[in-house]
Amino acid sequence: MSFVRPHGRATLQGWASGLTRGFFITFEGGEGAGKSTQIRLLAEALAAEGSEVVVTREPGGSPGAEAVRHVLLSGAAEPLGPTMEAILFAAARSDHVEQVIRPALGRGAVVLCDRFFDSSRVYQGVTGELDSNFMAALERVTINGAMPDLTIILDIDPQEGLRRAVARRGEESADRFEKETVDMHRRRREAFLDIARREPERCVVIDASLPPEEIAAQVLEIARRAMNSRREKDAKHV
Ligand code: TYD
Repeated sequence: MSFVRPHGRATLQGWASGLTRGFFITFEGGEGAGKSTQIRLLAEALAAEGSEVVVTREPGGSPGAEAVRHVLLSGAAEPLGPTMEAILFAAARSDHVEQVIRPALGRGAVVLCDRFFDSSRVYQGVTGELDSNFMAALERVTINGAMPDLTIILDIDPQEGLRRAVARRGEESADRFEKETVDMHRRRREAFLDIARREPERCVVIDASLPPEEIAAQVLEIARRAMNSRREKDAKHV
């Protein structure tokens, strides 16, 4: 996947029209939940309506963050411990936010990001067992106010997700996080669901075992509703 893929025109039209700034949607979930397929389908639907759509991912998404991605996913940072990994994810995220996400939102684009801070909360915070105050402080300085308007959590049974991830990667070896135990992936699933329960305004959970086209229809509907509700709020404040 290319890390930034702008579509369409630079002005906001279609569902995104009438928004006073861009719209930021993050996709989260375990391995093999189908995030990239759903991001592509939503990007196509929104671009067809004339919105500028920026598709991006983490770790990575900007040249600086892509350099850090390699260090993280190769496992090179693993011996340095979870705190170091968390700080590296945060460094990558900060660069990504400032170089790509904030400018895109500033010019009114819809940004679709494959993983964002919820992945750090879950992978480093919960299963990495890092201190929650430390993680919250790191998150705050890293995103510096760039809060997602909507987070779509694709929920999948870890065994099924890992089966899909293995099928997708073929002969390539598992990355640093994929190769962990199913029990670890179960804890992550619970942690994502827990975030959704705590932040129902921002998060929506979708059953990722459904056929991709059914999921895509749900994603589109949810995105549309969230943009409408932001548009109504914006109109009140004009
Ligand atoms: P990636 O190859 O991008 O695939 P996918 O998102 O499809 O799993 O892998 C990114 C890995 O990095 C994934 O296992 C989750 C992990 N990760 C973290 O541990 N913390 C983070 O903050 C982020 C963004 C990702």
